Amino acid sequence: MNDDADEIKEKILKLVADYHNSAYTRQPVNKIPTSAKVYDEKELINLVTASLEGWWTDGKWAMLFEKKLKEFLHVNFVIPVNSGSSANFLSIKALTSAKLGERRIRKGDEVITVAAGFPTTINPIMEVGAVPVFADVELGTYNAKAEEIEKAITPKTKAIILAHTLGNPFNLKKIKELCEAHNLWLVEDNCDALGSKYDGKCTGTFGDLATSSFYPAHHITTAEGGAVYTNSHLLSKIAKSIRDWGRDCWCLTGKDNTCGKRFGWHLGKLPLGYDHKFIYSEIGYNLKMTDLQAAIGVAQMDKLEGFIKKRKENFAYLYQKLSEFEDFFILPEATENSEPSWFGFPLTIKEGRTDRTKFLQHLNGKGVMTRLLFGGNITKQPYFIDYKIKYRQAGDLENTDIIMNNTFWVGIYPGLEKEHLDYVYGAFKEYLK
Ligand SMILES: Cc1ncc(COP(=O)(O)O)c(C=O)c1O
Repeated sequence: MNDDADEIKEKILKLVADYHNSAYTRQPVNKIPTSAKVYDEKELINLVTASLEGWWTDGKWAMLFEKKLKEFLHVNFVIPVNSGSSANFLSIKALTSAKLGERRIRKGDEVITVAAGFPTTINPIMEVGAVPVFADVELGTYNAKAEEIEKAITPKTKAIILAHTLGNPFNLKKIKELCEAHNLWLVEDNCDALGSKYDGKCTGTFGDLATSSFYPAHHITTAEGGAVYTNSHLLSKIAKSIRDWGRDCWCLTGKDNTCGKRFGWHLGKLPLGYDHKFIYSEIGYNLKMTDLQAAIGVAQMDKLEGFIKKRKENFAYLYQKLSEFEDFFILPEATENSEPSWFGFPLTIKEGRTDRTKFLQHLNGKGVMTRLLFGGNITKQPYFIDYKIKYRQAGDLENTDIIMNNTFWVGIYPGLEKEHLDYVYGAFKEYLK
């Protein structure tokens, strides 16, 4: 790069910072999103720097992001991908690998999960030809009932995949014990729970594999993006290969001959010396994160601890305010032995206390946005019915149906201050008084 280019770059980055500082506006007090990205000029500077560098695909920013996430979580391997849904798919797909022998998930095997959740926690199970088995959940924590999970286990069960609902850790102690006793894989969908702790350790570090989403609603963002993490060398190797077209070669993007014998391999029925770059040992895709996304993520990682602190403070403040309405609602409850980094503030309307649709229309009319607990009862969604999806229900899904009918959540994301939460309280009071 010549001096001119350096100078121009410096000017551009200065202008980017000036632009941000001039364009930035505070969140209005009477418009309360459930979630939104929180960023400053650093994300924009990284993004523009990465774009000027011209590499764009998976490269040095993706490696730096991976390193920061690894250090935060204290895990051995992080595999950045293009979304949280891809991360869930990659995790379940990795568990079908022939490299796992008898433990691998095959067509017709069962994977236990819950129906009160996000569709792409569940869809990868069907995608690999396995059968989802649904267990009921608790109200208050909104996580699976461990005893229902236990009852759902059969000789066909190969794995359990559960989300830490809205950031609230599920009963990792009991679920891990079940996995160990029955030789089951555990996948933690940590998409809504980055920074939540269980027994003093980050969620996402207990299972065989775990996933994050970096869609703007989440704890940190990379625009679109996600990650798979694991402590297992074998699972990380499989997942990386499936992420990268299924290739056997592990060269970084743009590198050749990392193994030192690029033309010396003899695999499958290919001729001896077939270029390792084009040898495929898994059924792969391309699910990589770009450097542009990762550059945003690098700046977000530096803010993560602050975001988590603010989410906890906002949750505690809103809890204290909305406790006044405990006759109307089941208030959220942290799982025993956990410190949630809450994604949202869930409430369930007590039987007959008020009409959810009318109440949510009131809140939305006041600028207080609301969300449902994702799919409610996923088995009642049109796609489950239209595609005649084969599933098994372990026991009744009584609480799942209550969630479908009576639960919703409001925001506590780090862009909100006390004045926003006071406004939320006011909108509740106006309707319920
Ligand atoms: C629990 C859970 N899992 C998976 C996802 C999917 O993540 P993405 O939107 O990045 O595909 C979401 C999305 O919000 C989610 O809440």
